Amino acid sequence: MSERLEIHGGQPLDGTVTISGSKNATLPAMAAALALPGGLLLSGVPDLLDVHTMRQLLTSMGTTITAPHNGQLFLQAPDTLNPNAPWELVSRMRASVCVLGPLLSRFRHARVALPGGCNIGHRPIDLHLRGLAALGADISISEGCVSARCSQLIGTTIDLAGPAGPTVTGTCNILIAATLAKGHTVIRNAAREPEVQDLATLLNAAGARISYAGHGTIEIHGVDSLGSATHTVSPDRIEAGTFAVAALLTNGRLTLQHAPTHALTDFLELLQQVGARLTLLPNALIVQRDGPLRPAHAIAQPYPGIPTDLQAQLMALFACTPGESRITDLVFPERFRHAAELIRLGADIHVVGNQARIRGVSRLSGAPLTATDLRASAALVLAGLAASGTTILHRIHHLDRGYQHFDEKLRAVGGQVRRLSESSG
Ligand code: EPZ
Repeated sequence: MSERLEIHGGQPLDGTVTISGSKNATLPAMAAALALPGGLLLSGVPDLLDVHTMRQLLTSMGTTITAPHNGQLFLQAPDTLNPNAPWELVSRMRASVCVLGPLLSRFRHARVALPGGCNIGHRPIDLHLRGLAALGADISISEGCVSARCSQLIGTTIDLAGPAGPTVTGTCNILIAATLAKGHTVIRNAAREPEVQDLATLLNAAGARISYAGHGTIEIHGVDSLGSATHTVSPDRIEAGTFAVAALLTNGRLTLQHAPTHALTDFLELLQQVGARLTLLPNALIVQRDGPLRPAHAIAQPYPGIPTDLQAQLMALFACTPGESRITDLVFPERFRHAAELIRLGADIHVVGNQARIRGVSRLSGAPLTATDLRASAALVLAGLAASGTTILHRIHHLDRGYQHFDEKLRAVGGQVRRLSESSG
């Protein structure tokens, strides 16, 4: 059933938000369970559409998945399963591609639909496939699917640098595959995102031998098999960054419980440039304005830089920041579809190539909007909260893919947000 959000703007948000587990740490962790014969017990798992989709995919292959307690999943893949990820599921969630590495390493064959493009740009997986081939996999593509086979993966040196920097899920795939490859693997220009580090911690708990050599280099000594692991998913740095922007946009004050501030340093430094007052507590972060907002130039780039997954939210903030701000996205240069929707609210934005120039306006005004992708949806909700009048956001399944109970969390801190079915008047 499709739903919409009805947002009444103008209220400062005030209160405490609990940050949920990271979507982008949970999905590769669930895929990694395929390589763990002893099973994986995950805690801190967020309640997200993408998690349900990954659960559906792994179950369709033959993995047993139970939920022993709230926020927990126990996943166990049998010694024989159906190593096939169909287009119906992969097209819904490109992170499905993370099953390639574990299927190859433990089951020695896989058939995964190519993910295709999406609203944030061209999403190739050539680096994934090149890395797996370097480890000894035979890769072929037919009927829109990748077929991969190997007798035994063999360790080697792999460089994962692409035209836009490292690949996050590509690093996850190669990392999992290399844990069971014979010999020593060195991954150069590996993604340094915290979610990848999370995965390495999980795999080492299951008996892998992974070490970080610094400067984006990861070393893996292959083992004969992995065992089992118990792992807690880290809090979601993108959700935390989203709510930090919400506090500034609405001129409110939010305490972000469990916010992983150590994983957001460049982003939080930018927020301080823009006029945020940040108060660090032992396991929380308080965000509020320290005066008028100030324009800035945000450059979205690979970790530890400002995350591309927070650039839409920054655009909503800059739309209400006096002066001219700029956003450049070096990771997904076409990721600006949210600009057109913000302009419907009265924002003054010009996109040229991989850069957006935003001149702040005194007040946005509510209007009907269409969500285009996961993070843009969140940005549009935040803009609606800052706008005068009412904003209706359609196609909010995008939001539910990556934010746990987003509207509930906003209502709990004073956000006037209602979830309605599209069919209701
Ligand atoms: C991950 O996607 C995240 N998703 C994305 O978050 C995030 O935006 C992205 O990393 C960048 O940080 C998950 O972790 C599930 P990439 P991923 O491979 O791994 C190019 C969200 O909203 N590239 O790091 O698919 C690619 O075109 C999502 O939570 C190649 O050229 O992204 C892009 O320009 C959206 N060849 C750049 O690298 C490849 O084989 C980074 O892509 C792979 C990628």
